[in-house]
Amino acid sequence: MSTIRHLYFHIPFCPKLCPYCSFYVEVGAKNKNTAFLDALLREVDRAAEKYALRPETIYFGGGTPTSLLTDQLEYLLGGLRARLDLSALREWTVEANPATVRAEKARLLRDLGVTRVSLGVQSWDDALLKTLGRVHSAAAAERTYEILRAAEIPAVNLDLMFAVPGQRPSQWRATLEKTIALKPDHISSYCLTYEEDTAYFQKLAGGDYRQDVERDAQLFEETMDTLTAGGFVQYEISNYSRDARESQHNRAYWLGADYLGFGPGAFSTVGLSRWENVRDTAGYTRTMLAGELAAGFTENLSADVRAGEIAAFRIRMAEGIPVAEIARWSDAMAEFETLGLVACSDGIVRLTRRGKLLADSVAEAFV
Ligand SMILES: C[S@@+](CC[C@H](N)C(=O)[O-])C[C@H]1O[C@@H](n2cnc3c(N)ncnc32)[C@H](O)[C@@H]1O
Ligand code: SF4
Repeated sequence: MSTIRHLYFHIPFCPKLCPYCSFYVEVGAKNKNTAFLDALLREVDRAAEKYALRPETIYFGGGTPTSLLTDQLEYLLGGLRARLDLSALREWTVEANPATVRAEKARLLRDLGVTRVSLGVQSWDDALLKTLGRVHSAAAAERTYEILRAAEIPAVNLDLMFAVPGQRPSQWRATLEKTIALKPDHISSYCLTYEEDTAYFQKLAGGDYRQDVERDAQLFEETMDTLTAGGFVQYEISNYSRDARESQHNRAYWLGADYLGFGPGAFSTVGLSRWENVRDTAGYTRTMLAGELAAGFTENLSADVRAGEIAAFRIRMAEGIPVAEIARWSDAMAEFETLGLVACSDGIVRLTRRGKLLADSVAEAFV
């Protein structure tokens, strides 16, 4: 029986669909019910028959896990605490939208063992929040941040997005400075991606929005410089931490650890097997409660493909990759070195500053 140390729970509910988002989410409360929570707990019971579950990290993502009512969170987290051996747990993250957290909910999360909340702020500018279709104002996001601090959640991450349509460099600078002033433990700063099947993608295709690769690169450079000067360490392309508060769950994922995903649309990878649960909350709930498995897609990876995937994640990390572990790609790496995109020192290959701007192209060489 193999031991699984990293668990992901997909909670697919959101107050409103953001026009840039391609995660599997549901708007409205139709399927946000106790049966869904029971289905998640049933899936954990099923997994425990096959694997030894000794979580070191748990991650509640989505969607918006804090869309669940306080009672529902209590039921779900209590159900997990009753089932899982949490003696090795180092980190329990819950993603939150600022519009969905009140003091009582924050205290409940802390009391039930959540150690980290990842808050989707995106911007401190109300006009840009409107462009992003967010349901909260900047002031509401700041109040939620204060609520999390008052509840003594041990670590708080703030998610930000740059390259938003119409965003001026001065607006991004102001968002970075305001974020630093709040002293979160961690910042994730994402460049907006135009994902297929989103309203933003349509607007890009229709010419309402335009991408400006050079401007985006400047905003990214400004992000690195400002956050680093503000005391944050860029330990991965989009992730910055203070006082070594790196996301342990994401680190494990990037380093290629096995993980199980629970809930509709959640992925799992164990050894060379990968599967995704059906992207249908009602169907997932029905299937799990009928005692069947809800995997919608399964795949057997080759060892080479898996090694390439992991290398593509690891090259984005500041700690780099030992040369010996990527010998298969030595020709590509030599070429990137000549182009000044990677550098090798003490037997470790890392992205250079220029390489960080072209990280996707470097990572592609591995897959
Ligand atoms: C799964 S969302 C969960 C957070 C929560 N639902 C919220 O939005 O407040 C995680 C983060 O992904 C980022 N994100 C989502 N869609 C994105 C896109 N198309 N491009 C870049 N970042 C994106 C946002 O910063 C978001 O906070
Ligand atoms: S960005 Fe967050 S709140 Fe918006 S739809 Fe996606 S998961 Fe939901």
